[in-house]
Amino acid sequence: MLESALRVLDTGRDRVEIIPTRRTEMATTAAELGIYADRLRRAQEELVRQGVDLLLVGPSSDFRYLTGHDAHLSERLTLLLLPREGNPTVVVPVLEAPTVADRRDLVDVHTWEETQAPSDLVATLAGDVAGKTVAVGDQLWSVFLLRLQAAMPGATWISATPTMRTLRMIKDFPELELLQDAARRTDDAWEEFITQPLAGQTEREALERLSALTRQRGLAGAWGLCASGPNSASPHHATSDRVIQPGDAVIFDWGGTIEGYYSDVTRTVHVGEPSDEFRRVYDIVYSANQATLDAVRPGVPCEALDEAARDLIAGEGYGAAFLHRVGHGLGLDVHEEPYLVAGNDLPLRAGMVFSDEPGIYLEGRFGVRIEDAVLCTDTGGERLNNATRELIIVG
Ligand code: GLY
Ligand code: MN
Ligand code: MN
Repeated sequence: MLESALRVLDTGRDRVEIIPTRRTEMATTAAELGIYADRLRRAQEELVRQGVDLLLVGPSSDFRYLTGHDAHLSERLTLLLLPREGNPTVVVPVLEAPTVADRRDLVDVHTWEETQAPSDLVATLAGDVAGKTVAVGDQLWSVFLLRLQAAMPGATWISATPTMRTLRMIKDFPELELLQDAARRTDDAWEEFITQPLAGQTEREALERLSALTRQRGLAGAWGLCASGPNSASPHHATSDRVIQPGDAVIFDWGGTIEGYYSDVTRTVHVGEPSDEFRRVYDIVYSANQATLDAVRPGVPCEALDEAARDLIAGEGYGAAFLHRVGHGLGLDVHEEPYLVAGNDLPLRAGMVFSDEPGIYLEGRFGVRIEDAVLCTDTGGERLNNATRELIIVG
């Protein structure tokens, strides 16, 4: 299915010709560096288009997106400087210079010694910024931003979100492959997990078994939650030692990463025979998940997807119990642009990947959420997750 979706996306700019073949080794071949050189070049085009003179990005998913380097976030400043013209530069503490040695064909590298002030080095490299516009990545710690602002007077400081989201919202071919791969493996872990009973296990034990199966399928950074019985009415419940019992709804919301790209799936199951109301709520959420998918098309505003789910749920009388937006972008961050929420009139574009996750939460009783990752293609939505969405009753 993705193959056909990707063919639809094969429209020049979005298609990167050379795909690394041995991803797990992260060999920095010329081909791989070419992907990042292309992203840096497109970021510079965006800086020109948006009237930005200099982009500053600390260790973050933005840094990784632009350079391929998963930079170490710490009290020592590491920073990417991308001027609208000229070479990208990475400033890095000298003890971490070896970690960027394989990026020297991509970026200039400047190191700072333990007793130096890295913000002064950045100011020197940036030159006179008086009257210029500096965009700052949204994950740069405030301590660094404050020091940089003091060292670089006269600039106008803005958020880099408009620049970075323009690039990152539209996934290129290697990114789509990784997201598809992560989704498939996560589905696969679920199919094995849900063959076993849950009653008698704690939420923590059940989640650990699912996480282990997810890791066994090659995903790193396994994360998630398990919410059982009344806890399932809390959308972001902190997994506890509550023992899962017959009569419980149980929500699993989990995933992992492949080369930094996330999966994010939710399935709700029932332990033993459910009530008529649970079945009804499940069917409503199931239909809302489908209605959201059906609304996906390039040009449709993000908020229309939320509306599709919300109208359906409200029409069944549960509007007040749908406590969150219907979805969020998925990529190097588990929550990223675009956000599918009322008030966001950003038009969907082919290549966007986002969650489709309507839910109904009845306080003190139970909740239901069904979540898949969805790719927007030229012709509509394609699910990246295909683990069964039919109601599963477990022991
Ligand atoms: N998991 C729902 C949200 O964060 O919007
Ligand atoms: Mn989720
Ligand atoms: Mn999600």
